[in-house]
Amino acid sequence: MTQGTAFAEWAPLSATVDPVLVISVSSLKGGVGKTSVALGLASAAYNRGLPTLVVDMDPQADASTGLDVPVTTPLDIADVLAAPRTKIISQAIVPSGWSGDAAGALDVIPGSPRAAEFDRPTLSERYLRRLSEALTTVADDYRVVIVDCPPSMNGLTRAAWMASQRVAVVTEPGLFSVAAADRALRAIAELRRRGAPDLQPLGIVPNRVRTKSREHEYRIEEMRDMFGPLVLSPPIPERTVLQQAQGSARPIHAWPGKIAGDLAGAFDTLLDRALRTSTMRSRTPRSAPEAGGSEQGEQPPAAPGQAADHR
Ligand SMILES: Nc1ncnc2c1ncn2[C@@H]1O[C@H](COP(=O)(O)OP(=O)(O)OP(=O)(O)O)[C@@H](O)[C@H]1O
Ligand SMILES: [Mg+2]
Repeated sequence: MTQGTAFAEWAPLSATVDPVLVISVSSLKGGVGKTSVALGLASAAYNRGLPTLVVDMDPQADASTGLDVPVTTPLDIADVLAAPRTKIISQAIVPSGWSGDAAGALDVIPGSPRAAEFDRPTLSERYLRRLSEALTTVADDYRVVIVDCPPSMNGLTRAAWMASQRVAVVTEPGLFSVAAADRALRAIAELRRRGAPDLQPLGIVPNRVRTKSREHEYRIEEMRDMFGPLVLSPPIPERTVLQQAQGSARPIHAWPGKIAGDLAGAFDTLLDRALRTSTMRSRTPRSAPEAGGSEQGEQPPAAPGQAADHR
């Protein structure tokens, strides 16, 4: 794999520095842990005191439930996508029910089944830019925006990506995980070429990893062979406490016990990586990898096209 060329694929096409980092959490497959990773990142950002907004783009609205937001709110993401006016956006934003667990501010634009009407494969450019427009109006209020996406590549995910600088691609280690991650990376590259110049993959997040499973070890190695440093470390282990925290609508950072603490640490590392890469955006393509940078996050990501060539 020629890393220099690979990095050029993902090098910033524009070098503006945004005050807010918008991260979409995506997978074109259902049930792999997108919402869990979005909640874990939100918990990490909230615990750190970073002003954070979670946008629930999934009509199932699982992230809103996990953030302890009322089932119905006067306005929600469907209203924002229909008319991204300042007044509507400010009314749609509600505080997370996690408040009180940490010092930070954590707000939510709640999900809605009505958002499904925007999840068309052929959503017009005008609508694809709606979330981006909406977030511009609140960009000064937050350091991090986390967007939980539905399990498809239709209008809602594309609108989320258009508004994002980074996409965390969640995958479970399994027979089809390489193909699924490759599809997602290709879709990101495609949208980047077609109107989202700041969009880059944050990386591939292996989730529900069983630490003693040789099959999972093998699958993660397989992904590393294909995607190199784009496969993020540490993987998120499969832990019942994550389900318990979600079921109680509490942040994993507030859940007691060592296992919860380790999970929280994994999400801290993921957030660190996102924040660090966001400050690397003004670097030029070939100067970016620091000589001797030991962390995976400091190295150039592989391009999905090359990954496919190795298959
Ligand atoms: N690391 C983990 N350990 C234990 N359970 C997990 C883990 N990650 C996810 N789960 C559980 O797996 C189920 C699916 O996870 P989640 O809802 O996050 O997936 P999703 O990709 O958002 O699904 P969808 O495609 O429906 O939006 C949930 O019950 C969640 O609690
Ligand atoms: Mg989900």
